[in-house]
Amino acid sequence: MTIVCEDLKIIKGIANSNIALLKYWGKSDVMKNIPDMPSISINLANLNSYVELKTDITKQLILNDKPIDNHTYARWNRVYKAISSKELNQIDLGINANNNFPTSAGLASSASGMAAMTVALNQYYGLNLTMSEMSRVASKGSASAARSIHGGFVETVISKGQSSDMHAEQLVDENYWKLSILICVTDSSKKKVSSSEGMQLSKKTSELYDSWVRLSKNIISDGRQALLAKDFEKLSFYTELSCMCMHAVMMTTRPELYYWNPTTLRIITLAKELRKKGIPVTFTIDAGPQVKLITEPDFTKSIEDALNEIDGIEKVIESSIGEGAYCESF
Ligand code: PMV
Repeated sequence: MTIVCEDLKIIKGIANSNIALLKYWGKSDVMKNIPDMPSISINLANLNSYVELKTDITKQLILNDKPIDNHTYARWNRVYKAISSKELNQIDLGINANNNFPTSAGLASSASGMAAMTVALNQYYGLNLTMSEMSRVASKGSASAARSIHGGFVETVISKGQSSDMHAEQLVDENYWKLSILICVTDSSKKKVSSSEGMQLSKKTSELYDSWVRLSKNIISDGRQALLAKDFEKLSFYTELSCMCMHAVMMTTRPELYYWNPTTLRIITLAKELRKKGIPVTFTIDAGPQVKLITEPDFTKSIEDALNEIDGIEKVIESSIGEGAYCESF
């Protein structure tokens, strides 16, 4: 394999996190990370992962200033192997990864991390992969990582059968529709059940799982239409339908997966009240108690003022639709 940038000391991959407006939960192939249904996401500006490849150090694997644990090793190894065909324990580099937002708290830190690592390794090995090819590599780390390669509004593409595979494609870029996102952090501690573990349990035990797989396909096609038409009201409807159906599946999993806390519910109620007052706002929640509110930029301030009245919010992170993953070297 050609390494084109031996003279460089540090290669830094930078990628934003993303949230799915129209979600996936459950996989047809766990080893290959292939979801049972597609998803549509938005890239989140300001929520970044930085992955530095240090060419003057070997085998030092660090995440947020600590050596990585076995779970993270397995994830990184899948991405490293997809790009280099080697195991991570043979690496001739140091990897130093950092997130500027809470890790493993339902804010897709693994998505941005794996996307940032993919763009950095692509540069180090001089592979010149296209964004779609890099998305396929990142998907080995987590399915949502495939989406963080691209900026703007992104949809996953799943091929089933013998050579089953997944990657994501950009639907429209970050300038298509200026939306504002308020991420309400209600508990930044690490979630008790990881997404990968949770979705396997749901597939095995939730009575609602099969209906969710069927329904989510319709939600995606109707939601995509609403998005492309910039119809906020319709997009809100499908965003919340997708979120609530996914959480119904989680809650009917055995043992049950309640990712919410009381503040989560307070924020949902607030969003509905604000909407009655004519403010365009919709919410979504992933595998954690944080609520992401999506609105149009003119309404950000009034929503922030209303959030100030709610107990239990640790902090609100402001975001907008961000750009795709990229690399810097020095
Ligand atoms: O692909 P993962 O392991 O990051 O899981 C993502 C699961 C959800 O965030 C709950 C849904 C989604 O589509 O992002």
